[in-house]
Amino acid sequence: MKLKAPLVGLIESLDASETAAHLWIGLVSQERLPQWVDDATLLDSRERDIARRLTPADNRTMFLASHAALRLVLSLYTGTEPNELRFETRHGQRPELVWSAESLPVRFSLTHTSGLFAVAVTRRAACGVDAEQLSTGVLDGATLRTTLSASELERVRPLQSSEAVMAFHRLWTRKEAVLKAIGTGLRADPRCVSVDAEDEGASVNDPSVELHLRTGWRVCTLLPTSDHVVSVAIRSMKEKPHLMLFELEPSLDVARIRVEPDE
Ligand SMILES: CC(C)(COP(=O)(O)OP(=O)(O)OC[C@H]1O[C@@H](n2cnc3c(N)ncnc32)[C@H](O)[C@@H]1OP(=O)(O)O)[C@@H](O)C(=O)NCCC(=O)NCCS
Repeated sequence: MKLKAPLVGLIESLDASETAAHLWIGLVSQERLPQWVDDATLLDSRERDIARRLTPADNRTMFLASHAALRLVLSLYTGTEPNELRFETRHGQRPELVWSAESLPVRFSLTHTSGLFAVAVTRRAACGVDAEQLSTGVLDGATLRTTLSASELERVRPLQSSEAVMAFHRLWTRKEAVLKAIGTGLRADPRCVSVDAEDEGASVNDPSVELHLRTGWRVCTLLPTSDHVVSVAIRSMKEKPHLMLFELEPSLDVARIRVEPDE
C-alpha cells in the first residue's frame, strides 16, 4: 500500500523554513475505506491490540484509518515502508518516530475526532495538532470552567450559542495543540494556556511544564469543513506556522494540495 505524493520534494519544502509545517487532513467514511484498513494490514501488534479493544465501531474505524494514514504519510518523508515504521513514547509523553541521532528527525502529531483525522509534520520545529467536531455539548458550565481561564470565560459566556460553540472550539483546539506540541497533553492544565483567539502567539503558565517550553508557541486555526475546527501549534519565537495543507481521499491512496502557504 502506497500513497502517491502530491508534491515532489516534501522534505525539502519542510527544511526550507524554520516554521514550515505540513498538515494532512482526511475525512473518514466507513463505506469508502478499503478493506486493508479494516484488516489493520499496515499496523503493528500494539496498534492492532488497541483497535481490537475500541468501541463503538466508529471509534475503531477512526483509529484504524488515522493510524494507516499516519504511516502512509510518514513513509513519504522517511522512505521507510509504512508497515516498517517504528514509534516510541518517551516518559509517557508524545509518540515519536524511532530515529537515528545523525539527522534531523521527521516530527509529527496526530489527532482524530468524529469524521476527521489530521497529521501535522515538521522537521525544524516541534508541532502539535488538535481537531474537534463542533458540538453544543461543550457549553455546559463544568466543561467551560475546567478548560477556560477566567478572562476566556468572560469572553465566551455572553455569546449566542453558535458563536459560543465556535469560540470555545477555537480556544480549545489551540490550547490542546500547544499542549500536544509540548508533549504533556492534558496532564498540564488547559486553563493555563493563553491563546488569544486573534493573535497567533501562545504561552503556558503551568508550573508542571518545563520553564523553557512555556513560551515561544505560534498557533493557526482552520475550518476544513463546516463541522470541524483544526489548530496547529509549532515552536517559533517570531513567525506563525508556514502551513501547507493536503487532503487525503477516503481511499487513502491519493492526496491533493488544498492550500499553499500564504494563500
Ligand atoms: C494526548 C491527549 C491530549 C489526546 O487528546 P484527545 O483529544 O483525546 O485525542 P487526539 O485525537 O487529539 O490525539 C490523540 C493522539 O495524540 C497523540 N498523543 C498521545 N499522547 C500525547 C502526548 N502526551 N503529547 C502529544 N501527543 C500525544 C497520539 O498520537 C494519539 O493518537 P492515538 O490515541 O490514536 O494513539 C490526551 O489523551 C492526554 O492528555 N493524554 C495524556 C494525559 C492523560 O492520560 N490524561 C488523562 C485524561 S485527562
